[in-house]
Amino acid sequence: HGLLAFDPGFRSTAACKSAITFVDGDKGILLYRGYPIEELAEHSDFIEVAYLLMNGELPTVMQRTQLDLALGSHNLLHEQVLSFYRGFRRDAHPMAVMVGVVGALSAFYHDVMNIRDANDRQLAATRLIAKMPMLAAASYTYSIGRPMRYPNNKLDYASNFLQMMFGSPVAEYVVDPVLARALDVIFTLHADHEQNASTSTVRLAASSGANPFACIAAGIASLWGPAHGGANEAVLKMLMEIGSVENIPKAIARAKDKDDSFRLMGFGHRIYKNFDPRSRVIQAQAKKVLTHLGKDDPLLEIAMRLEEIALKDEYFIGRKLYPNVDFYSGILLRAMGFPMNMFTAVFAVARTAGWVSHWLELQGESHGIDRPRQLYVGKALRHYSKAK
Ligand code: CMC
Repeated sequence: HGLLAFDPGFRSTAACKSAITFVDGDKGILLYRGYPIEELAEHSDFIEVAYLLMNGELPTVMQRTQLDLALGSHNLLHEQVLSFYRGFRRDAHPMAVMVGVVGALSAFYHDVMNIRDANDRQLAATRLIAKMPMLAAASYTYSIGRPMRYPNNKLDYASNFLQMMFGSPVAEYVVDPVLARALDVIFTLHADHEQNASTSTVRLAASSGANPFACIAAGIASLWGPAHGGANEAVLKMLMEIGSVENIPKAIARAKDKDDSFRLMGFGHRIYKNFDPRSRVIQAQAKKVLTHLGKDDPLLEIAMRLEEIALKDEYFIGRKLYPNVDFYSGILLRAMGFPMNMFTAVFAVARTAGWVSHWLELQGESHGIDRPRQLYVGKALRHYSKAK
């Protein structure tokens, strides 16, 4: 095959240059534009982080105010977009709905179609970040038959998402600042992670000059799978199946058994081979929220015992399998009242900041269409003859 290098899934090939996020998997380091994730999770907030990812620097007070104003003026959905929801089955998975409605936005914003214009690009990115909370919340409220709620511009991004998810039309929604802060931290931790499957999907779609809303819909489709963003939901299902601390050894034995397809969900990472810096932050948040709510989730105990037992086991040590960000995020989201099938949609809201940043970065380059090659393993040349 001549000069072709064979690297299935680009696992060891840098397919692009990027100045956005740095990951050192051996040392457990994650930096957004040079800033450690732990510092951003503690001192910053998601919108500041989104600005940082998109623009390369933290915003000044004025730039932040401008972004808040822009998000506040673009966070509504066109009423015709809302009518799309009614076409879905009520029991549709929210991610299935999200792929559809986000893709459909490309039919609405003709004025941002000139992707060669930097202002238009910024507007498209702002619209996507602004609209994602309502798009996600509406997929939930629709599924339970409650009226969809509009954003409230007096609230910050995370609080607004909470009120659109859980607010009732017949009572005032009072934001719990501890929950809002925890959700904001989840958003920050999930905002970007360099060339993961969904971000690479967005970049690949973007390389053809496709509409930004369609590119992000492609990212959402890729995020949905259980090996990627669907892992947080899969972790919770697994913990429920395990059911009690006594059943942990059985689960561990199954995960080690090569004839059994069962894996410890939330364990292992393509890049992190030491620890996932996000998992520590999220574990602390999960404990904080449970204490604050006075909830004692038996799944947290199962998760912590599972981690403890697995990390002493040669199988997991030898393969460098550690809890990843999703191991505790499900427990945290559940404590906050999110139903399991919304976990990946929450991830999608957060990752939109990363996806649009990569989209902006790619548009700023003189970049032709991406075109991976393949190693052909099919039939050699043969000639057609009619079936007898
Ligand atoms: N449980 C049991 N064994 C595992 C697990 C696991 N969770 N993960 C990897 N292994 C084993 C695997 O069977 C293989 O063993 P052997 O060498 O004996 O064949 C070895 O570890 C290496 O596995 P791999 O599949 O080559 O590792 P990878 O780097 O390609 O996969 C992964 C990374 C995240 C897909 C995988 O660890 C996994 O499936 N984890 C569970 C799903 C999960 O939590 N995904 C979320 C990832 S973080 C969030 C995100 O990126 O969206």
